[in-house]
Amino acid sequence: MLAQAGEIAVLTGAGISAESGIPTFRGLGGLWNGRAPLSLATPEAFAHDPQLVWEFYNWRRELVAQAEPNAGHRALVALAGRVDRFTLITQNVDRLHQRAGSGDVLELHGNLFEVRCTGCHRTFDQTGITLPALPHCEACGHLVRPGVVWFGETLPPGIWESAEAAVRRAGILLVIGTSAVVFPAAGLVAIARGAGRTVIEINLEATPISDEVDLVLRGQAAEILPELLNRLSPPPLAAT
Ligand code: OAD
Repeated sequence: MLAQAGEIAVLTGAGISAESGIPTFRGLGGLWNGRAPLSLATPEAFAHDPQLVWEFYNWRRELVAQAEPNAGHRALVALAGRVDRFTLITQNVDRLHQRAGSGDVLELHGNLFEVRCTGCHRTFDQTGITLPALPHCEACGHLVRPGVVWFGETLPPGIWESAEAAVRRAGILLVIGTSAVVFPAAGLVAIARGAGRTVIEINLEATPISDEVDLVLRGQAAEILPELLNRLSPPPLAAT
């Protein structure tokens, strides 16, 4: 199927970064396990206790900065080079796809390393910079917030439209390591199905979309993706 697809779209979630040591959100050991997402990942939570929210995000920034992309992230870079057109859509904010070498990643939920001023709304790229507990804007002095999408917020302008167009267009949508319960991201599956596209799920466990997709590959993304790549015919040799 992949060899004949021509164009492939991919939607990833926290599961693809699990082998890099980044905890997922749901399930045992998950980031939300024992924590209420609404007390940490909403604009109201930030307004109520910005210090607590920043401590949580600084901890996550450090965790991710120390992590490395895994074989699953790398296999997607290689897959992109083997098809006519490839769109990588992620819910992850860890930037591990980019560090593995993927370009043009559609980050539906923003990322941990861009921060945004709550006053003048300027964004700053703070990759590799250790932030104080409550960082303030260099330009206007207002409190700066993580550049991620919180519950109840809209997605970054243009990103959703590009993701939607890609899943309608591409012959195959690969859905990797997501519990498929957070919308609108999870809605991309129904959009692809509605457009008559083939959907393949790669996940350790069953999810609400498992019964709706064309094919389920059960297991770790970091094992399944390299294996899929191995089974594709080798790329043509460059002319000498
Ligand atoms: P979840 O934590 O909800 O789901 C992770 C999924 O990955 C689960 O279905 C696991 O079974 C699967 N999984 C775990 N390890 C895996 C592995 N090694 N290989 C394959 N699959 C594996 O994470 P997301 O679906 O990404 O949003 O969560 C969606 C959104 O909810 C996040 O972007 C975040 C969160 O709240 C915001 O913060 C706005």
